[in-house]
Amino acid sequence: MTNVLNLLIVYYSQTGNTEKMARAVEEGAKSVVGVNVELKYFARPEDLAEADAIILGMPTYYHDMSIDMKHLLEAAAKEEIGLKGKVGAAFGSYGWSGEAPNMLVEIMKNRFEMDVIEPPIRIKYNPDKKGLEECRELGKTVAEKIVKTSLS
Ligand SMILES: Cc1cc2nc3c(=O)[nH]c(=O)nc-3n(C[C@H](O)[C@H](O)[C@H](O)COP(=O)(O)O)c2cc1C
Repeated sequence: MTNVLNLLIVYYSQTGNTEKMARAVEEGAKSVVGVNVELKYFARPEDLAEADAIILGMPTYYHDMSIDMKHLLEAAAKEEIGLKGKVGAAFGSYGWSGEAPNMLVEIMKNRFEMDVIEPPIRIKYNPDKKGLEECRELGKTVAEKIVKTSLS
């Protein structure tokens, strides 16, 4: 394979639960040969543009996502960053309502017309072994999907 494929994971986490999920997603994605995986806490719209697949991780606080993530997505929309057809997915830890990952899916699908893997992974508080395995699987699935597309 000549082309390097880029998979970007952008996440936010205040108390570390979504961060654990993010690191497991990263691990799963890195198990796929030919994919360059980047895990970021802060990203710029250009980072989204350069990625072949984007996985967003977000805990739910006050029934919402973080302001940094909102700003990133708003800036990408304003700058008309073309994400149409790129593979997307979302995950996040939550306590009782867990809206944030669903919001991310809605935005990726409806605003950016991305090819989103659903449903997002939502884990209550601290991810256990099974939850982390699910996250690894998600990373692997997304990475395999872009490899498959690049070969077709
Ligand atoms: C101030 C505060 C507000 C929260 N609001 C919500 C909420 O609206 N809905 C929800 O499902 N969980 C809520 N939670 C629970 C967090 O989503 C949960 O603790 C999650 O594991 C945090 O993820 P993190 O460790 O990645 O920051 C809240 C927690 C705190 C401390």
